[in-house]
Amino acid sequence: MKDASPQTIFLADYTPPAYLVEDVHLTFRLAPSATRVISRIRFVPNPDAKSRDFFLHGQELTLIRATIDGAEVTPEITEAGLTCAVPDAPFTWEAEVEIDPAGNTALEGLYMSNGMYCTQCEAEGFRKITYYPDRPDVMAPFTVRIEGDAPVMLSNGNPTGEGRGWAEWTDPWPKPAYLFALVAGDLVAREDSFVTMSGKEVALRLWTRRGDEGKTAFGMEALKKSMRWDEEVYGREYDLDIFQIVAVSDFNMGAMENKGLNIFNTSAVLASPETSTDANFERIEAIIAHEYFHNWTGNRITCRDWFQLSLKEGLTVFRDQQFTADMRSAAVSRIEDVMALRGRQFREDNGPLAHQVQPDSFVEINNFYTATVYEKGAEVIRMLKALVGDDDWRRALDLYFDRHDGQACTIDDWLKVFEDTTGRDLSQFRLWYKQAGTPRLTVTDDFAEGTYTLTIKQQTPDTPGQTDKKPMLIPVAVGLLNPNGDEVVPTRVLEVTEAEQSFAFEGLAAKPIPSLLRGFSAPVILTRDTSAEERAFLLAHDTDPFNRWEAGRALAKDVLTAKVTGRDGPERPYLDALAALLRDEGADPAFKALALRQPGEDDIAQTLFDAGHSPDPDRIHDAAETLKQQAAEHLQDIIPRLAAEMTIDAPYAPDAEQSGKRALRLGLLDLTTRLDGGAEAEAVHAVADNMTLSLGSLGCLIEAGRAEAALAAFHARWQDDALVLDKWFTTQIVHAAPGDAVSIAERLSRHPDFNMKNPNRFRAVFGALAMNPAGFHAADGSGYRLMAEWIARLDPVNPQIAARMTTAFETWRRYDGDRKQMIRGALEGIARTPGLSSDSGEMVARILG
Ligand code: ARG
Ligand code: ZN
Repeated sequence: MKDASPQTIFLADYTPPAYLVEDVHLTFRLAPSATRVISRIRFVPNPDAKSRDFFLHGQELTLIRATIDGAEVTPEITEAGLTCAVPDAPFTWEAEVEIDPAGNTALEGLYMSNGMYCTQCEAEGFRKITYYPDRPDVMAPFTVRIEGDAPVMLSNGNPTGEGRGWAEWTDPWPKPAYLFALVAGDLVAREDSFVTMSGKEVALRLWTRRGDEGKTAFGMEALKKSMRWDEEVYGREYDLDIFQIVAVSDFNMGAMENKGLNIFNTSAVLASPETSTDANFERIEAIIAHEYFHNWTGNRITCRDWFQLSLKEGLTVFRDQQFTADMRSAAVSRIEDVMALRGRQFREDNGPLAHQVQPDSFVEINNFYTATVYEKGAEVIRMLKALVGDDDWRRALDLYFDRHDGQACTIDDWLKVFEDTTGRDLSQFRLWYKQAGTPRLTVTDDFAEGTYTLTIKQQTPDTPGQTDKKPMLIPVAVGLLNPNGDEVVPTRVLEVTEAEQSFAFEGLAAKPIPSLLRGFSAPVILTRDTSAEERAFLLAHDTDPFNRWEAGRALAKDVLTAKVTGRDGPERPYLDALAALLRDEGADPAFKALALRQPGEDDIAQTLFDAGHSPDPDRIHDAAETLKQQAAEHLQDIIPRLAAEMTIDAPYAPDAEQSGKRALRLGLLDLTTRLDGGAEAEAVHAVADNMTLSLGSLGCLIEAGRAEAALAAFHARWQDDALVLDKWFTTQIVHAAPGDAVSIAERLSRHPDFNMKNPNRFRAVFGALAMNPAGFHAADGSGYRLMAEWIARLDPVNPQIAARMTTAFETWRRYDGDRKQMIRGALEGIARTPGLSSDSGEMVARILG
């Protein structure tokens, strides 16, 4: 059955549920195409409700029978669920439904992946399993009995019984249905245990398909570190006898925090040095922490409705960022977080999909699991912490856990905790949740009679449906340096609250050099007329590592935008500063590697567009290539020595130190390839004994146009490892010359190993094409046509992934008239697809505007 015609849901329409659930008992009789689900649910009227209408969500279910207090009833079935006359008193509802896991290619609800049963219920997948009030403010304890012939059958909570062909699980903690999970299959576990701060022993299990058990050691260690960290930093203890993670090959996102039974995309948990890159290891550690941290921020305290999504996601992303900063290098992880924020969230915020951290309406909630809700939401929380200070932050979090444990909450509940802790009025700060768009800060300065004055103007641009924005409360961390590079005023947080505001620093001997927005203290775009000399000075001397990196990046952007627009740029100061940094023995390799990395082509396109140009993707690509060539030539004396210093004798470890060295080695290899045509890359590739160097050198070989044999060998060696094969698909497209990217993607979409039903594989090809801007935006429109054709083809199979892929087009308004017209045509073609899902329909409509 197709969805009912798409409806817009509004935050303002929230009403409490008519009935609450006291407890739930589910029995699953598993069969691939005809699973029976028998539910027994005790409902009680909600004293706070405004109506007594009984409605249960349900989609794609076949109702076999239903009873109320044992008496058969005939509910009225609609496309969205069912209604039924019920007593105005507590009652027991029982129903039996049939569902088809094997036919479920949308990977939402109960589905099959490689012969294994698994579930994904967030946000609204539980309604595809049985009739239920599928909304997060209805919380209940669940008991689940699973009947089937799978050797391993799991659900949330603690095991409470098993026998031949059945297993029973009981989760005592009341939870919303979106946290329900079930897994059944022929699985193997890595087993371990953890003793909590109060001395309770928790069994840990990391489950995989047979054959993958060699890739679970790192994930298990990451889990134990996360459990310890949440105790030490937030006093949060785990609350069941067992914690389980299951790796699933077909999964729409990274992972899911189901209570006591996290389900992970294999790509977000399985790792080994031979098959995973340093970046993979780092991401896995962060995602395991993220899902584990949800046990408190998300599960024990959940969301009242989906407009509160950032309550759990913004906070949990912030917590996983803190964890990564503690486990690795704080400076490097902050830089990486900001690069990701700019690459994904600023892009979103500056286009037709811009939306609030707390939206006021949506059609399909799955379309709002976005960089804005997640990453900007985390930045908002980071600012809150900076504003109240570390001590009040910790006191407020204690109060939050204390006051709201077991509840379904709102973002306003969260802010109230901070108001009550600090006595501060946060109404202006709350605008960060309600005003979409990236604020622009413009800074000017002045020095007279020992007083240095910074004047800061703020302005937030219009976004779809939102104009005339109010000034926000923006924490701007500032430090001042003297011309020798000494810090004369240490970091101070200026609280900008007005459209224009000045801040004075007195008693200075000479005009200082300002280091603005240290640590990227607010998610804004800051501009100030700054000379190349000053940027080079900050790159050499800033005591704030983020701003040191930022100065280099700003310089590189100046160079690239000047090249594209045919102006003279600061190549010389940039290259000299880079050389000085690479020679600096005090700077660590990870930092040097980040500084060596050029700003992305998409970033340059947005910058040019903001400055009033319509960016030409080919020229941007040429400028980036030219600058790389110049850097290679300019740095050629330093490179060989520095590269040699990056040799690692110790056995492979995916830690911060070794990863930093490998990142720098590969950054240098990329430059060397410009000089030797790939000779050294070939040598590195031939002996690489870890995936980081193997894949990195392969990328260089592709760019040098001499990868044919290496690619064939790589495929032959890894054809049975899906996660490595994904990399094989991706790297060929990402590193393709712009003129070849589309035809390579097209050819790979016909490869026997391509399978659009697997989200990782689909993204490995089409996500990769979108990451090659000059290729995707080919002037003949071939990239647009190929992308649109595959989105339309995927939509009936997996609407969530299809809808997500439409964001490849979200920047379309930047480009010239011909490209705009072709993109519009491509989007309109998707929109016309018969039976298009509401997921993709909503996205295309919003992108077209
Ligand atoms: N809550 C999960 C996480 O952040 C992600 C769920 C995404 N769900 C979705 N329908 N897109 O870890
Ligand atoms: Zn999350």
